[in-house]
Amino acid sequence: MLNSKDVEKMVRGGLKGMKAYTPVDPVDVLTGRAEVPEGDTAKLDGNENPYGCSPRVQKALAGFQDYNRYPDPDQRDVRRALAVYTGVKADSIVAGAGSDDLIDIILRLFIEPGDRVINCPPTFGMYPFCTVIAGGEVIKVPRRPDFSLDLPAIKKVIDAGTKLIFIASPNNPSGNMAGVAEIKELLSRDLILVVDEAYVEFSGNSLTPLVKQYANLIVLRTFSKWAGIAGLRAGYGICPANIVPYMMKIKQPYNINMAAYVAILESLADLDYLQNTVNAMVKERDVLFKGLQQFKWLKPYPSRANFILCAVLYRSAKDIYLGLQKKGIFIRYFETPELKDYIRISVGRPEDTLRVIAALRDM
Ligand SMILES: Cc1ncc(COP(=O)(O)O)c(C=O)c1O
Repeated sequence: MLNSKDVEKMVRGGLKGMKAYTPVDPVDVLTGRAEVPEGDTAKLDGNENPYGCSPRVQKALAGFQDYNRYPDPDQRDVRRALAVYTGVKADSIVAGAGSDDLIDIILRLFIEPGDRVINCPPTFGMYPFCTVIAGGEVIKVPRRPDFSLDLPAIKKVIDAGTKLIFIASPNNPSGNMAGVAEIKELLSRDLILVVDEAYVEFSGNSLTPLVKQYANLIVLRTFSKWAGIAGLRAGYGICPANIVPYMMKIKQPYNINMAAYVAILESLADLDYLQNTVNAMVKERDVLFKGLQQFKWLKPYPSRANFILCAVLYRSAKDIYLGLQKKGIFIRYFETPELKDYIRISVGRPEDTLRVIAALRDM
């Protein structure tokens, strides 16, 4: 009979030493580390929508009667509604449990053990995480000091074994966009380019129209940020139409759950409301940026998303993170080879900005 050690030995070799993904903790756990009463907190660590979801989503989910039924595996209504929202045909769209799900589906579809995937850190951690799980090899091409892509270095590493490259635009955590010329240059190479537009509603510039022109471009989007339903997990990919049937075939059949399904449709039926919250966040991004610029020991980077990255000068980013945490303000800090002593603050409501600036002033 196998003992527990034997079973552990069966874990795939490539996954044993793999670094875990660093997720954000839920607010009750974070509040436990703060010195403030419950509810008296500002959660600015997950790039979420502080205004919540559309009231139409709340109402529809409360009254929904069919939770006992499986959702449509072909995602018909959702893909039709997304086609109207994005201006591409429904047969170019695949929906998933967050864009994370799409990242996973794409890698499972294209990557065989040993295939190479280019990642340009600092960027979203899910790309190398899912690449390793799919058995691919991550080829790291760090961004330049201003967080722009190092195109000559990217071109240099592309070889016959390179299948795919991920580019987030706006990039998380730096907030800057990739240039259209850079994207077109990469599209001219023999590899699949996945452009992650998780924050596109805050930037206003999408590369979606290019999907019709290029056979090797996939654009990812999400409802987590602008639509305020991160907890329901809803995202989608805009993909070359000939690749969609493969993605639909290998995805988990019921990957978007019934609540997310309803929430997507209701969000898309309440665009004016959601656009107002997006506008409020874009306006608040400027207020936060100006507020952060007052501090000589912080260097905020201009952002086209709903967060601002700051280099912390003469101090430790972790100390700032811990100091704010004590006061019930939750942000992210980074101590990686590409980002040493940086913090990232999500854009919140005006009262959150006032609170974070006042707390930083006390430090
Ligand atoms: C660039 C980027 N892509 C994708 C995601 C994940 O989005 P979702 O919640 O749709 O899985 C995030 C979340 O932080 C992100 O920053």
